[in-house]
Amino acid sequence: MDQLIKPTKSFHCTLTVPGDKSISHRAVMLASLAEGTTEVTGFLPGEDCLSTISCFQAMGIQIQQSGDHVTVIGKGLHGLTAPAAALNCGNSGTTTRLLSGILSGQPFSSTICGDDSLQSRPMNRIALPLRQMGAQIEGQEKNGVLYAPFTITGGHLSPITYALPVASAQVKSCVLLAGLYTSGETTVIEPEPTRDHTERLLTYLGASLHREGNAITVSGKTPLTAKPISVPGDISSAAYFLCAAAICQDSSVTVQNVGVNPTRTGLLTALKQMGLSVTLAHERTVCGEPVADITCSYTPNLRPITLQGAIIPTLIDELPVLAVVACFAKGDTIIAGAQELKVKESNRIRTVVEELTKLGAHLEETEDGMIIHGGYPLHGALVKSHMDHRIAMSLAVAALAAQSPVTIAQSQCVDISFPGFFQQLSQFIR
Ligand code: S3P
Repeated sequence: MDQLIKPTKSFHCTLTVPGDKSISHRAVMLASLAEGTTEVTGFLPGEDCLSTISCFQAMGIQIQQSGDHVTVIGKGLHGLTAPAAALNCGNSGTTTRLLSGILSGQPFSSTICGDDSLQSRPMNRIALPLRQMGAQIEGQEKNGVLYAPFTITGGHLSPITYALPVASAQVKSCVLLAGLYTSGETTVIEPEPTRDHTERLLTYLGASLHREGNAITVSGKTPLTAKPISVPGDISSAAYFLCAAAICQDSSVTVQNVGVNPTRTGLLTALKQMGLSVTLAHERTVCGEPVADITCSYTPNLRPITLQGAIIPTLIDELPVLAVVACFAKGDTIIAGAQELKVKESNRIRTVVEELTKLGAHLEETEDGMIIHGGYPLHGALVKSHMDHRIAMSLAVAALAAQSPVTIAQSQCVDISFPGFFQQLSQFIR
């Protein structure tokens, strides 16, 4: 589907965005493994999270979903039953990797598959620690890299201490979830802190878990107890509105009820470094997660910045839209140490550079990121999403501040993480 976006006038608005994708996945997974009934509110009814629901339904868990409300009748750590067919994770890397940790502890074999994008993403990063723990994982390997579909035969797992070779919350979570099925302590050491929603939700539901520096340890065999889960708005979705206000003259936006977990707020730090006013109000903690209302206002004097090191995992999904903002800063913004962008839903280093170049931006691909030569006005063009939801929404933000209309092809992929994105955009920003 093609989506036309016209340049906008200045806007001032207050809105909410759908629930956090990472927390929604974990809510359904952990509620399925908990004992008792969990009511989840604020759930993201995006395609990725619906894939998670259907995988657990296929393993005998009763789950009812209506909009952002989900009821899960958990059956405890050992209540899953063998699925009759392959578990289809669709486009969702989070479903695939976290689910694999859980499947490794089950006394049955199951196969994981997904769409073309998912089946081209590396899975050896989870197979390596899970095999060390005792799971059997078989699938097609090309040049030593495992891809879905693959089959996991779970069983008797042993605890391990695992140092992550790449900073990945999905791999960390996968190993911690497998650790629930061992009778000892499983430790994951991360090179840099990554999103810690799994740790927070496990703790909230009664698991025994502690963190020392960059090492997180979970004790196996502790039961999880059902408790109501309220999911905050997704900062990765709020990012599109905050960044639109950052580059559209005399504009400002407040996004209410957004998760502001410090492992996710690198975007806010980066926007402040660029000279923007970013403020938090009504700060509170909900189900173990920090939540606030975020306001961001336009500045005509955006500064270029360098992003590298520990901040990268805290804004990894926001880098495409930050690249758009950097087009409006006079000078060179450098993004380095972000090679993980190459193995997301698309190769986001390449797709960002390719598509923003069509709009008149000056930027170049590097081995581990990109350099954005800011200060060149953007103009209309036909661009495409590469079926990557974050690319589609980032291009929409660029279009709002371009000098003529932009058409985004394959725009329907926004439904992966933000159903109703274009409707909300046209409602608040014209
Ligand atoms: C996620 C972790 C990140 C992120 C993804 C969601 C999660 O991936 O990019 O959108 O929910 O754990 P990596 O763990 O591969 O960095």
